[in-house]
Amino acid sequence: MGTRRISVTVDGVAYSDDVEPRTLLVHYLRERLGKTGTVVGCDTSNCGACTVHLDGRSVKSCSVLAVQVDGSDVTTIEGLAQNGELHPVQQAFHENHGLQCGYCTPGMIMQAVDLLKDNPDPSDAEIREGLEGNLCRCTGYQNIVKSVKAAAGAGSVSAGVAGGAA
Ligand code: FES
Ligand code: FES
Repeated sequence: MGTRRISVTVDGVAYSDDVEPRTLLVHYLRERLGKTGTVVGCDTSNCGACTVHLDGRSVKSCSVLAVQVDGSDVTTIEGLAQNGELHPVQQAFHENHGLQCGYCTPGMIMQAVDLLKDNPDPSDAEIREGLEGNLCRCTGYQNIVKSVKAAAGAGSVSAGVAGGAA
């Protein structure tokens, strides 16, 4: 019964909100905070489109309750860019055509960032394995793997990615 008060930091901003015990994190993010960059692609917790970082690790936000993130730090796709600069992984998806319709992209990118944290130089197979919880209906996996590889090559140091083909 009743709502519960949670305090959570999302994309660097602290929030305190009353939520229903059954509210899913993804709905809290989208409906309460307006973080519509995080999307819902299924109702079976298997597409990964809703992936965010919870205390630095990727989770499917449709499989977490809002009350469970009380006291935690959440990063969504909207918090990845810093000072107007795309995150190196976002940049790499952009440059390597890692998206078609773009629906799976926020989750793919969040998952890829987490993957590269553990394994900064993954093989194609390791990338595919790391992203296997994220489905792309456009079957753009080839370019997605290429994008993650490119991001790995660019390192977390960024910089070296400038100078596109204009
Ligand atoms: S919406 Fe969360 S896994 Fe599909
Ligand atoms: S780009 Fe369309 S679902 Fe992946």
